[in-house]
Amino acid sequence: MSRIAYVNGRYVPHRHAAVHVEDRGYQFSDGVYEVFAVANGVLVDEELHLQRLARSLGELRIARPHADAVMKHLFREVLRRNRVSNGILYLQVTRGAAPRDHAFPKSARPAVVITARPARLADPAITARGVDVVTIPDLRWRRVDIKSVSLLPNVLGKQIAKDKGAYEAWMVTDEGEVTEGTSTNAWIVTKRGALVTRDADTSILNGVTRLTILRLAREAGLSIEERPFSLREALAAAEAFLSSTTSFVMPVVRIDGKPIAGGTPGPFTQKLLASYRGYIAR
Ligand code: PDD
Repeated sequence: MSRIAYVNGRYVPHRHAAVHVEDRGYQFSDGVYEVFAVANGVLVDEELHLQRLARSLGELRIARPHADAVMKHLFREVLRRNRVSNGILYLQVTRGAAPRDHAFPKSARPAVVITARPARLADPAITARGVDVVTIPDLRWRRVDIKSVSLLPNVLGKQIAKDKGAYEAWMVTDEGEVTEGTSTNAWIVTKRGALVTRDADTSILNGVTRLTILRLAREAGLSIEERPFSLREALAAAEAFLSSTTSFVMPVVRIDGKPIAGGTPGPFTQKLLASYRGYIAR
C-alpha cells in the first residue's frame, strides 16, 4: 500500500509530497509541529495536542489554518488513507511560502502538512531494560516552550547521545539544572519518594505525556514536585525516567554511565508506566 500525505488541501502520494522552496518553514524554521501517538485507532490526548498547537501558533502569530473540528477530520482521513491504527501522526504548520524576507509576509497562507505511519511506540524490550542518557549543555533559545520546528540543538544533541550509545541526551543549564531531553521530558524520583519534574516555564516544552503523567500521579495520590532539579540531584536520585509521545514512561538506568536505581528500572517508574499504558489502552 502506498503512503499518502496531506499537503495544503490535497492528499498526495508520500513520495511526491512537497512544499514550496520558499516555504518559511524550510527557510527560517518559521513553523510549529505536533507528534501524536495513535493507539488502537485513537489519537492519544488529541485535545491537549490541539491546545498546545494553538498556543505555539499564537506565540508565533501564525494564523490557525483550520478550526479544531476540521483538523480532527483531516487527522482521521490521513490515518484512514494510510491504514494506521497504531503509530504516529505528524502535523506541521508553517507561516507559508513567500519571497524571502525575515519580517512576516503580508499575504502568506499557513502551510499544513499531515503524515502518518505505523510505529511500535515505547518498545517493551527497551522499556524493560531501561536506557542510558548522557548530558550536554543546553544551547537552545529561551522560548523552547513553543513547539517550533527549529530543532538544531536537539538534533545535534540526539546525535551525541546516539554516538555514545545512549538513548537520549539531557540538557543542562550553566547553573547545573537539567531542563529536559532533546525530544523528551526529564523526571526523577527522590529517595523520599517524591516525583520531580521541571515546572513548565519557557525553558522546557510542556509535554502532553508530562501533563498526563502528572494527572495520573495526582490521581494516585503521589507526592509531586514541579521544580527545577540539578544534575547532581539526578545522579543521587532513587529513580529517573523520561517521557514523550513516542517513549511513554521510559526508565533511565544510567546517566553519563553512572547507574541510577542500581542500573535497573525502579518500582515507582514501573508503576507509572503501567498506569500510563493502562490509560492508553482505555
Ligand atoms: N518530542 N521535550 C521536547 C524538546 C520534545 O521535542 C518533546 C516531544 C517532549 C515531549 O513532549 P510530548 O510528551 O508532548 O511528546 C519534550 C516529539 C515526540 C518529537 O519531536 O518527536
